Amino acid sequence: MLNKKVEEALVNQIEKEAYSSNLYLAMAVWADTNGFEGTAKWFYAQADEERMHMLKFIKYVNERGGHSVIPSIEQPPADFKGMTEVFAQTLEHEQYVSSLINDIVGVCVEERDFTTQTWMQWFVNEQIEEEASVAAINDKLRLLGDHNLYMFDRDIMGMRGAMPASAE
Ligand code: FEO
Repeated sequence: MLNKKVEEALVNQIEKEAYSSNLYLAMAVWADTNGFEGTAKWFYAQADEERMHMLKFIKYVNERGGHSVIPSIEQPPADFKGMTEVFAQTLEHEQYVSSLINDIVGVCVEERDFTTQTWMQWFVNEQIEEEASVAAINDKLRLLGDHNLYMFDRDIMGMRGAMPASAE
């Protein structure tokens, strides 16, 4: 049976992952409607990954005898200033998510739930990867500058595999 405090921390994270998915969908829409096809593809795929994170939390809580609650989700911004801001915001958001993941690990340690702590390691590693990949995109943007967005967009298009079915 899942410890109550751990369950609460995991259930709280369902909303954070759902919000992340919707935030990236909003960014995908911004890119799509501004002619940045590659960037849109990147964000649609990112939104799918966040939904997958959300599902991981939902299923784990249920499997361990807890009860996942599907939350209402805050509306993400509908507009963004430009490419540099979008990716700066993405990095900031991922750093925030990393801090949330660390907090959950902290609760697991406090409550001596080492099973969930081990399970959370996947998210710890995922955050390292996500922060690194978004930081690399920010570096690329800095190098290319705002005048080379066509090139940037072509470049980022190749960074994701086939378009996920939900984004076609
Ligand atoms: Fe679910 Fe991008 O962290």
